[in-house]
Amino acid sequence: MTISPFANHLPVKIQFGEGTALQLPKLLQDIGADRVVVLLDEGIEQYNPAVAQVLDALRASALTVTRVSKPAGEPTIAMIDAATARIREAAADAVVALGGGSVIDTAKAARLCVQLGCTFGEFLASALTYPAPDIPLIAVPTTAGTGSEVSGGSVVSDPETGRKAGIANPHLRPQHAVIDPQLTWSMPPSMTANTGIDALAQAIAAVVAKVRTPIGDAIALEAVRLMGDSLLAAYLDGGDRVARSRMACGSMMAGLAMNISDCTAEHSLGQAIGGLTGAAHGLTVGLVLAETLERERQFVPDRLERVADALGVPPDGTHDGSRAVAGIRNLLANLGFPVLSGLGITETDLDRLTDLALADYFLTMSPHPWSRQEVRGAFASALALQSRQPAVVAG
Ligand SMILES: NC(=O)c1ccc[n+]([C@@H]2O[C@H](COP(=O)([O-])OP(=O)(O)OC[C@H]3O[C@@H](n4cnc5c(N)ncnc54)[C@H](O)[C@@H]3O)[C@@H](O)[C@H]2O)c1
Repeated sequence: MTISPFANHLPVKIQFGEGTALQLPKLLQDIGADRVVVLLDEGIEQYNPAVAQVLDALRASALTVTRVSKPAGEPTIAMIDAATARIREAAADAVVALGGGSVIDTAKAARLCVQLGCTFGEFLASALTYPAPDIPLIAVPTTAGTGSEVSGGSVVSDPETGRKAGIANPHLRPQHAVIDPQLTWSMPPSMTANTGIDALAQAIAAVVAKVRTPIGDAIALEAVRLMGDSLLAAYLDGGDRVARSRMACGSMMAGLAMNISDCTAEHSLGQAIGGLTGAAHGLTVGLVLAETLERERQFVPDRLERVADALGVPPDGTHDGSRAVAGIRNLLANLGFPVLSGLGITETDLDRLTDLALADYFLTMSPHPWSRQEVRGAFASALALQSRQPAVVAG
């Protein structure tokens, strides 16, 4: 089969390594910044000593640094507007987003609104133009993660409609991504599991999506390999430097792969759960990951066989992609991952969840169109689980 035509352009300057975040003042000076807004989670340095060190280094520099705290929770329209106002007030010539995907996504949308001189609501009601940014954004992730540090997406919830939707454009991308695994060491086990499953799901989706390309596959499968054998280790021992390093690198690579390719059904079903319950993004994706892959394997078994190999699941003679699903079920069980019913979702929510998922963009990136019945069926399978038992993977 010939390779379908594709284009590839992902211009984010990446610096990876333990201690790289301490070089932030130098990076900012090198790019000519003077008045810097640092957007971060409220109080994060109290539970993340590596972030405290980065803030100390910024304070000790000659830069004028304005600290802007994002309230807890995933980005909402109000949070974007508040951050926009603070960046404008500070007349910032560079923005640093130091946090998880929520902080980075807030910074992307706020930088855009500052440039356009509008609120986020006004932007959504407009013709949605995305000019080339006039000030640089430096993303420094503290989770592993969303890959938002290299992506052109920003996911924002509208609490009024209960919808979680995103904006996406190459011009939303940060100019620099500084990935320092030490910033993730403070994540507790459940957050490690939730954010890590999100990253792994993104890497797998990049291989499954109908817009996959050989470049995306190569990056995604290496990301799956790095994370497949380190997510459980990082969950069991947050101080495992090797596992943290592999997760931070794998998560960033999953972000690249997702941008070269796309996410698929797991994100649409997950975001529907997030819209209805407000549960953490990675948690919602993990709740439906095995169920959506179980459906996709019928259409792209060969691609899921490659995922199974990257995950290190031993061959079992099936050749139908079921090995990858079994590997994911095993991992979720070993991570003690919650089940959908644990969020208080019941049968009566299935139609609303199905409506939300069917209206979501990522579902359209699936290798084969999903019917309403299939979406509802995947939610119903997830809801039927009372607990997670490791699947038997034949050796
Ligand atoms: N733009 C993209 O490409 C993209 C991709 C996937 C997900 N997302 C979005 O990203 C958001 C989720 O981001 P996330 O999973 O990184 O979590 P998050 O940013 O929502 O953070 C979750 C919580 O973890 C805390 N936290 C962050 N780092 C920590 C650390 N090192 N130690 C201890 N606590 C820490 C935060 O303070 C917060 O309370 C969602 O809104 C999701 O929709 C965006």
